[in-house]
Amino acid sequence: MTDISRAGTYSLGDRDVKRMGYGAMQLAGSHAFGPPKDRAGAITVLRAAVDAGIDHIDTSDFYGPHVTNHLIREALHPYRDDLTIVTKVGARRGDDGSWLPAQTPQELRQAVHDNLRNLGVDVLDVVNFRVFGHGRSEGSIEERFSALADLRAQGLIRHLGISNATPPQVAEAQTIAPIVCVQNEYNIVNRVDDDLVDSLAEQGIAYVPFFPLGGFSPIQSDALAAISARVGATSRQLALAWLLARAPNVLLIPGTSSVSHLQENLASADLDLRDDIIAELTAIA
Ligand SMILES: NC(=O)c1ccc[n+]([C@@H]2O[C@H](COP(=O)([O-])OP(=O)(O)OC[C@H]3O[C@@H](n4cnc5c(N)ncnc54)[C@H](OP(=O)(O)O)[C@@H]3O)[C@@H](O)[C@H]2O)c1
Repeated sequence: MTDISRAGTYSLGDRDVKRMGYGAMQLAGSHAFGPPKDRAGAITVLRAAVDAGIDHIDTSDFYGPHVTNHLIREALHPYRDDLTIVTKVGARRGDDGSWLPAQTPQELRQAVHDNLRNLGVDVLDVVNFRVFGHGRSEGSIEERFSALADLRAQGLIRHLGISNATPPQVAEAQTIAPIVCVQNEYNIVNRVDDDLVDSLAEQGIAYVPFFPLGGFSPIQSDALAAISARVGATSRQLALAWLLARAPNVLLIPGTSSVSHLQENLASADLDLRDDIIAELTAIA
Protein backbone atom coordinates (compact mmCIF):
# COMPACT_ATOMS: atom_id res chain seq x y z
CA MET A 1 0.00 0.00 0.00
CA THR A 2 1.23 3.51 -0.79
CA ASP A 3 2.68 5.45 2.11
CA ILE A 4 1.02 8.80 1.42
CA SER A 5 2.86 10.44 4.30
CA ARG A 6 5.88 10.48 1.94
CA ALA A 7 4.31 13.55 0.33
CA GLY A 8 4.54 15.40 3.65
CA THR A 9 2.08 17.48 5.63
CA TYR A 10 0.98 21.11 5.75
CA SER A 11 -1.08 23.11 8.16
CA LEU A 12 -4.69 24.15 7.77
CA GLY A 13 -4.72 26.56 10.69
CA ASP A 14 -4.14 24.51 13.83
CA ARG A 15 -4.70 21.24 11.93
CA ASP A 16 -1.83 19.44 10.23
CA VAL A 17 -2.99 17.42 7.25
CA LYS A 18 -1.22 15.15 4.82
CA ARG A 19 -0.66 16.82 1.49
CA MET A 20 -2.48 13.97 -0.26
CA GLY A 21 -6.19 14.40 0.45
CA TYR A 22 -9.46 13.44 -1.23
CA GLY A 23 -12.25 15.42 -2.93
CA ALA A 24 -15.72 13.93 -2.38
CA MET A 25 -17.63 15.68 -5.17
CA GLN A 26 -17.47 12.69 -7.52
CA LEU A 27 -19.38 10.54 -5.03
CA ALA A 28 -22.74 12.14 -5.84
CA GLY A 29 -24.56 11.45 -9.10
CA SER A 30 -23.50 12.72 -12.49
CA HIS A 31 -22.21 16.31 -12.32
CA ALA A 32 -22.45 16.18 -8.54
CA PHE A 33 -26.24 16.01 -8.68
CA GLY A 34 -28.52 13.39 -7.15
CA PRO A 35 -27.59 10.09 -5.53
CA PRO A 36 -24.65 7.93 -6.63
CA LYS A 37 -25.28 5.01 -8.97
CA ASP A 38 -23.56 2.78 -6.42
CA ARG A 39 -24.12 3.98 -2.85
CA ALA A 40 -22.29 1.06 -1.22
CA GLY A 41 -19.39 1.67 -3.60
CA ALA A 42 -19.24 5.34 -2.57
CA ILE A 43 -19.07 4.36 1.10
CA THR A 44 -16.30 1.89 0.26
CA VAL A 45 -14.26 4.63 -1.48
CA LEU A 46 -14.52 6.93 1.55
CA ARG A 47 -13.46 4.19 3.96
CA ALA A 48 -10.62 3.13 1.63
CA ALA A 49 -9.40 6.73 1.53
CA VAL A 50 -9.24 7.02 5.31
CA ASP A 51 -7.77 3.52 5.66
CA ALA A 52 -5.02 4.60 3.27
CA GLY A 53 -4.15 7.42 5.66
CA ILE A 54 -6.06 10.32 4.14
CA ASP A 55 -6.90 12.90 6.81
CA HIS A 56 -8.23 15.74 4.63
CA ILE A 57 -11.56 15.41 2.81
CA ASP A 58 -13.13 18.16 0.73
CA THR A 59 -16.91 18.34 0.41
CA SER A 60 -19.92 20.63 0.17
CA ASP A 61 -23.57 20.40 1.06
CA PHE A 62 -24.36 21.48 -2.51
CA TYR A 63 -22.93 18.22 -3.89
CA GLY A 64 -26.06 16.22 -4.38
CA PRO A 65 -27.31 18.44 -2.68
CA HIS A 66 -26.59 16.93 0.75
CA VAL A 67 -25.53 13.61 -0.81
CA THR A 68 -21.77 13.70 -0.22
CA ASN A 69 -22.14 15.00 3.32
CA HIS A 70 -24.62 12.22 4.12
CA LEU A 71 -22.23 9.65 2.61
CA ILE A 72 -19.29 11.02 4.60
CA ARG A 73 -21.33 10.86 7.78
CA GLU A 74 -22.55 7.34 7.10
CA ALA A 75 -19.09 6.08 6.16
CA LEU A 76 -16.92 7.83 8.73
CA HIS A 77 -18.91 9.14 11.71
CA PRO A 78 -17.84 9.23 14.52
CA TYR A 79 -14.88 10.94 12.87
CA ARG A 80 -11.27 10.26 13.76
CA ASP A 81 -9.73 13.13 15.72
CA ASP A 82 -7.13 13.62 13.02
CA LEU A 83 -9.65 13.90 10.16
CA THR A 84 -10.14 17.41 8.78
CA ILE A 85 -13.29 17.93 6.71
CA VAL A 86 -13.31 21.05 4.57
CA THR A 87 -16.62 22.27 3.20
CA LYS A 88 -17.70 25.18 1.05
CA VAL A 89 -20.73 27.44 0.91
CA GLY A 90 -22.10 29.90 -1.63
CA ALA A 91 -24.21 27.88 -4.07
CA ARG A 92 -27.36 25.81 -4.21
CA ARG A 93 -28.84 23.45 -6.77
CA GLY A 94 -31.91 23.91 -8.91
CA ASP A 95 -34.35 21.04 -9.41
CA ASP A 96 -32.68 20.38 -12.76
CA GLY A 97 -29.18 20.22 -11.22
CA SER A 98 -28.29 23.78 -12.21
CA TRP A 99 -25.81 25.67 -10.03
CA LEU A 100 -27.43 28.74 -8.47
CA PRO A 101 -25.97 31.43 -6.21
CA ALA A 102 -26.71 31.25 -2.48
CA GLN A 103 -24.58 34.15 -1.37
CA THR A 104 -26.72 36.40 0.79
CA PRO A 105 -25.60 36.48 4.44
CA GLN A 106 -28.79 34.63 5.36
CA GLU A 107 -28.15 31.90 2.75
CA LEU A 108 -24.54 31.55 3.90
CA ARG A 109 -25.63 31.17 7.53
CA GLN A 110 -28.21 28.59 6.47
CA ALA A 111 -25.56 26.68 4.50
CA VAL A 112 -23.26 26.53 7.52
CA HIS A 113 -26.07 25.11 9.65
CA ASP A 114 -26.96 22.62 6.88
CA ASN A 115 -23.33 21.44 6.76
CA LEU A 116 -23.18 21.10 10.55
CA ARG A 117 -26.36 19.02 10.60
CA ASN A 118 -25.60 16.86 7.55
CA LEU A 119 -22.01 16.12 8.60
CA GLY A 120 -23.13 15.55 12.20
CA VAL A 121 -20.65 17.93 13.87
CA ASP A 122 -20.86 20.87 16.29
CA VAL A 123 -18.07 22.83 14.63
CA LEU A 124 -16.95 22.83 11.00
CA ASP A 125 -13.16 22.39 10.65
CA VAL A 126 -12.77 24.65 7.61
CA VAL A 127 -15.38 26.51 5.55
CA ASN A 128 -14.47 27.97 2.16
CA PHE A 129 -16.51 30.89 0.92
CA ARG A 130 -17.03 29.94 -2.73
CA VAL A 131 -17.29 33.08 -4.85
CA PHE A 132 -20.12 32.24 -7.26
CA GLY A 133 -19.58 31.86 -10.96
CA HIS A 134 -18.14 29.65 -13.63
CA GLY A 135 -14.73 31.29 -13.73
CA ARG A 136 -13.70 34.21 -11.56
CA SER A 137 -14.96 37.75 -11.44
CA GLU A 138 -13.78 40.73 -9.45
CA GLY A 139 -15.98 42.43 -6.87
CA SER A 140 -16.01 43.02 -3.14
CA ILE A 141 -16.75 40.02 -0.96
CA GLU A 142 -16.90 42.06 2.23
CA GLU A 143 -20.53 41.55 3.24
CA ARG A 144 -20.51 37.84 2.39
CA PHE A 145 -17.18 36.98 3.99
CA SER A 146 -18.06 39.03 7.08
CA ALA A 147 -21.17 36.87 7.57
CA LEU A 148 -18.92 33.81 7.75
CA ALA A 149 -16.40 35.61 9.97
CA ASP A 150 -19.30 36.22 12.41
CA LEU A 151 -20.09 32.50 12.46
CA ARG A 152 -16.44 31.78 13.11
CA ALA A 153 -16.48 34.24 16.01
CA GLN A 154 -19.54 32.39 17.34
CA GLY A 155 -17.55 29.14 17.33
CA LEU A 156 -19.44 27.32 14.55
CA ILE A 157 -16.43 27.40 12.20
CA ARG A 158 -12.83 26.69 13.23
CA HIS A 159 -11.11 28.12 10.15
CA LEU A 160 -12.08 30.03 7.01
CA GLY A 161 -10.89 29.80 3.43
CA ILE A 162 -11.95 31.23 0.11
CA SER A 163 -12.56 29.59 -3.26
CA ASN A 164 -12.79 30.68 -6.88
CA ALA A 165 -11.27 33.94 -5.77
CA THR A 166 -9.05 36.52 -7.45
CA PRO A 167 -5.92 37.77 -5.65
CA PRO A 168 -7.68 41.04 -4.65
CA GLN A 169 -10.56 39.02 -3.17
CA VAL A 170 -8.09 36.84 -1.25
CA ALA A 171 -6.45 40.00 0.09
CA GLU A 172 -9.84 41.51 0.99
CA ALA A 173 -10.86 38.35 2.87
CA GLN A 174 -7.65 38.59 4.91
CA THR A 175 -8.60 42.08 6.09
CA ILE A 176 -11.81 40.59 7.55
CA ALA A 177 -10.62 37.33 9.12
CA PRO A 178 -7.61 35.01 8.90
CA ILE A 179 -7.79 32.45 6.11
CA VAL A 180 -6.04 29.08 6.12
CA CYS A 181 -6.56 28.08 2.49
CA VAL A 182 -7.45 29.18 -1.01
CA GLN A 183 -9.21 26.64 -3.24
CA ASN A 184 -9.02 27.59 -6.92
CA GLU A 185 -8.87 25.83 -10.25
CA TYR A 186 -5.25 25.01 -11.07
CA ASN A 187 -3.40 22.10 -12.61
CA ILE A 188 -0.43 21.18 -14.80
CA VAL A 189 -2.03 22.82 -17.86
CA ASN A 190 -3.78 25.72 -16.09
CA ARG A 191 -1.32 27.97 -14.29
CA VAL A 192 -3.33 31.18 -13.90
CA ASP A 193 -2.60 31.15 -10.17
CA ASP A 194 1.17 30.68 -10.32
CA ASP A 195 1.89 33.96 -8.51
CA LEU A 196 -0.89 33.38 -5.98
CA VAL A 197 0.46 29.91 -5.09
CA ASP A 198 3.86 31.44 -4.33
CA SER A 199 2.49 34.39 -2.39
CA LEU A 200 0.36 32.10 -0.21
CA ALA A 201 3.36 29.82 0.38
CA GLU A 202 5.27 32.80 1.74
CA GLN A 203 2.38 33.48 4.13
CA GLY A 204 2.04 29.86 5.27
CA ILE A 205 -1.43 29.52 3.72
CA ALA A 206 -2.47 26.34 1.91
CA TYR A 207 -3.33 26.39 -1.78
CA VAL A 208 -5.77 23.61 -2.71
CA PRO A 209 -6.23 23.19 -6.46
CA PHE A 210 -9.62 21.98 -7.61
CA PHE A 211 -9.80 20.06 -10.91
CA PRO A 212 -6.22 18.77 -10.33
CA LEU A 213 -6.89 16.18 -13.04
CA GLY A 214 -8.96 18.53 -15.19
CA GLY A 215 -12.30 17.83 -13.47
CA PHE A 216 -15.15 17.42 -15.97
CA SER A 217 -12.67 17.85 -18.86
CA PRO A 218 -9.79 15.44 -18.13
CA ILE A 219 -6.36 16.86 -18.94
CA GLN A 220 -5.35 15.99 -22.50
CA SER A 221 -1.69 16.52 -23.31
CA ASP A 222 0.46 14.62 -25.78
CA ALA A 223 3.57 15.90 -24.02
CA LEU A 224 2.30 14.57 -20.69
CA ALA A 225 1.44 11.21 -22.27
CA ALA A 226 4.95 10.97 -23.75
CA ILE A 227 6.66 11.67 -20.41
CA SER A 228 4.29 9.21 -18.74
CA ALA A 229 5.32 6.43 -21.13
CA ARG A 230 9.00 7.16 -20.45
CA VAL A 231 8.87 7.26 -16.64
CA GLY A 232 6.38 4.41 -16.20
CA ALA A 233 3.70 6.35 -14.32
CA THR A 234 0.25 7.32 -15.56
CA SER A 235 -0.49 10.82 -16.83
CA ARG A 236 -2.78 11.33 -13.83
CA GLN A 237 -0.02 10.34 -11.42
CA LEU A 238 2.39 12.74 -13.09
CA ALA A 239 -0.15 15.57 -12.98
CA LEU A 240 -0.57 15.01 -9.24
CA ALA A 241 3.15 14.49 -8.56
CA TRP A 242 3.88 17.76 -10.41
CA LEU A 243 1.42 19.58 -8.13
CA LEU A 244 3.12 18.09 -5.06
CA ALA A 245 6.47 19.28 -6.40
CA ARG A 246 5.08 22.71 -7.32
CA ALA A 247 5.14 24.22 -3.82
CA PRO A 248 5.05 22.91 -0.24
CA ASN A 249 1.70 24.60 0.49
CA VAL A 250 -0.15 22.74 -2.29
CA LEU A 251 -2.64 20.23 -0.85
CA LEU A 252 -4.22 17.69 -3.19
CA ILE A 253 -7.90 16.72 -3.27
CA PRO A 254 -8.29 14.61 -6.44
CA GLY A 255 -11.81 13.30 -6.78
CA THR A 256 -12.86 9.80 -7.72
CA SER A 257 -15.74 7.39 -7.25
CA SER A 258 -13.51 4.36 -7.79
CA VAL A 259 -11.22 2.53 -5.36
CA SER A 260 -8.79 1.59 -8.13
CA HIS A 261 -8.56 5.21 -9.31
CA LEU A 262 -8.08 6.26 -5.68
CA GLN A 263 -5.16 3.84 -5.35
CA GLU A 264 -3.65 5.03 -8.63
CA ASN A 265 -3.90 8.64 -7.46
CA LEU A 266 -2.46 7.97 -4.00
CA ALA A 267 0.53 6.21 -5.57
CA SER A 268 1.64 9.57 -6.98
CA ALA A 269 2.82 10.39 -3.45
CA ASP A 270 5.42 7.62 -3.92
CA LEU A 271 6.90 8.95 -7.15
CA ASP A 272 10.43 10.29 -6.92
CA LEU A 273 10.65 12.41 -10.02
CA ARG A 274 14.09 13.66 -11.07
CA ASP A 275 14.52 17.42 -11.37
CA ASP A 276 14.81 17.23 -15.16
CA ILE A 277 11.46 15.39 -15.35
CA ILE A 278 9.84 18.02 -13.13
CA ALA A 279 11.28 20.69 -15.44
CA GLU A 280 9.83 18.93 -18.48
CA LEU A 281 6.44 18.71 -16.77
CA THR A 282 6.62 22.39 -15.83
CA ALA A 283 7.25 23.26 -19.48
CA ILE A 284 3.98 21.59 -20.60
CA ALA A 285 1.67 24.54 -19.86
N1 LIG B 1 -14.16 25.01 -5.00
C1 LIG B 1 -14.73 24.64 -6.12
O1 LIG B 1 -15.37 25.45 -6.81
C2 LIG B 1 -14.60 23.24 -6.59
C3 LIG B 1 -14.98 22.90 -7.91
C4 LIG B 1 -14.82 21.59 -8.31
C5 LIG B 1 -14.31 20.64 -7.46
N2 LIG B 1 -13.96 20.98 -6.19
C6 LIG B 1 -13.37 19.99 -5.26
O2 LIG B 1 -12.18 19.53 -5.86
C7 LIG B 1 -12.18 18.10 -5.90
C8 LIG B 1 -11.38 17.64 -7.10
O3 LIG B 1 -11.99 18.06 -8.28
P1 LIG B 1 -12.83 17.07 -9.21
O4 LIG B 1 -13.15 15.81 -8.49
O5 LIG B 1 -13.96 17.82 -9.78
O6 LIG B 1 -11.84 16.83 -10.44
P2 LIG B 1 -10.48 16.02 -10.63
O7 LIG B 1 -9.98 15.50 -9.35
O8 LIG B 1 -9.62 16.88 -11.47
O9 LIG B 1 -10.95 14.82 -11.58
C9 LIG B 1 -11.99 13.98 -11.24
C10 LIG B 1 -12.35 13.20 -12.50
O10 LIG B 1 -11.24 12.40 -12.88
C11 LIG B 1 -11.62 11.02 -12.84
N3 LIG B 1 -10.49 10.32 -12.25
C12 LIG B 1 -9.95 10.51 -11.02
N4 LIG B 1 -8.90 9.69 -10.83
C13 LIG B 1 -8.77 8.97 -11.96
C14 LIG B 1 -7.90 7.95 -12.39
N5 LIG B 1 -6.89 7.53 -11.59
N6 LIG B 1 -8.07 7.41 -13.62
C15 LIG B 1 -9.06 7.85 -14.43
N7 LIG B 1 -9.93 8.81 -14.10
C16 LIG B 1 -9.80 9.37 -12.87
C17 LIG B 1 -12.86 10.94 -11.99
O11 LIG B 1 -13.68 9.89 -12.46
P3 LIG B 1 -13.86 8.53 -11.58
O12 LIG B 1 -14.89 8.87 -10.54
O13 LIG B 1 -14.35 7.56 -12.60
O14 LIG B 1 -12.54 8.18 -11.01
C18 LIG B 1 -13.52 12.29 -12.29
O15 LIG B 1 -14.26 12.23 -13.50
C19 LIG B 1 -13.66 17.75 -5.96
O16 LIG B 1 -13.89 16.40 -5.60
C20 LIG B 1 -14.25 18.76 -5.01
O17 LIG B 1 -14.11 18.31 -3.67
C21 LIG B 1 -14.08 22.27 -5.75
